[in-house]
Amino acid sequence: MNVRVSSVCGGDGACGTCRIEVVEGWENLTPPTPDETYKELEPPYRLSCQAKLRGDVIVKVAKIE
Ligand code: FES
Repeated sequence: MNVRVSSVCGGDGACGTCRIEVVEGWENLTPPTPDETYKELEPPYRLSCQAKLRGDVIVKVAKIE
């Protein structure tokens, strides 16, 4: 399913606006990148521009107006 996510920095892992909440399937994402650990993101949150899919996941995404 295509989901629009805010991406102020264009996917460079710098802005944090693409943050998502992982509801199910954490194990189906690649490990957190240095950009994510630097920002001290803790589960269940990830930067969607950094997390690559390995399988199915269910996430919550902030609504874009
Ligand atoms: S788009 Fe900026 S951190 Fe992901």
